[in-house]
Amino acid sequence: MADRPSITGDEEPPELNPGVPQTARIWNYWLGGKDHFPVDRQVGDQILEAFPAIVENARASRAFLVRAVRYLAGEAGVRQFLDIGTGLPTANNTHQVAQRVAPESRIVYVDNDPLVLAHARALLTSTPEGATAYLDADLRDPERILQEAARTLDFGQPVAVMLMGILGHIEDDDQARSIVKRLMDAVPSGSYLAMYDSTDTSEEVVEAARIWNQSAKPPYHLRSPERIARFFDGLELVEPGVVSTLEWRPEPGSGPPAEIDSLCGIGRKP
Ligand SMILES: C[S@@+](CC[C@H](N)C(=O)[O-])C[C@H]1O[C@@H](n2cnc3c(N)ncnc32)[C@H](O)[C@@H]1O
Repeated sequence: MADRPSITGDEEPPELNPGVPQTARIWNYWLGGKDHFPVDRQVGDQILEAFPAIVENARASRAFLVRAVRYLAGEAGVRQFLDIGTGLPTANNTHQVAQRVAPESRIVYVDNDPLVLAHARALLTSTPEGATAYLDADLRDPERILQEAARTLDFGQPVAVMLMGILGHIEDDDQARSIVKRLMDAVPSGSYLAMYDSTDTSEEVVEAARIWNQSAKPPYHLRSPERIARFFDGLELVEPGVVSTLEWRPEPGSGPPAEIDSLCGIGRKP
């Protein structure tokens, strides 16, 4: 397993190309945002036809992100967040959720999509007590992320590393696990990993990924629940463990669990 993965994987970082459907924009379309082009809507709709629960899955994932940040800033007392694979700004971005709980929270956002970079100003609206920063960087270059994030985050204090819906973009398990390890090695005891990703547990989601990989960039690789759970090796899983995004500490009064193919979890570095 390589210790220092570089951007030599299967994909170049995306360019701003309105003719090629891209993950951040399709995701924004499913979440009900307005930052997408016709090609993104076209692929988004094709996938919706094959996998009608995709919108529910996307929204459940985003709702998990919000509950996770609330938990981390609240009960877990974390004040620093490294949110890699931020996505286009939406309602309840990480800094807004964290700073509502603890205004002094410091957040570094990281994404490699040029449209996310173009909209990054909306992510930089910190409270005066806290801080936010945006890095145009690639998950496959964790050294650079850690080096530049250190301008905003104190790596001597706990950090919540967030990998929400991004590890599926790294095909190779060894490379993905090596990146997670590098990031978690850089943060002290009492830090957390929070992640979710899609599983290969239904025929519909497998078909959805096939359609995605035919035209959208970057490709997305589904994993089995066991492969996703292994990202938490060496960490103490926060209850209720690795579960569907709807089942992770749901809001009281939320409806019965629906068909959700995304798994999530939060692990604490001992
Ligand atoms: C499915 S979206 C998830 C957005 C957000 N985390 C959420 O949960 O709503 C995945 C994001 O990861 C970004 N991404 C994909 N591969 C990346 C990479 N290698 N480095 C940095 N960002 C990447 C995409 O640009 C996109 O914004």
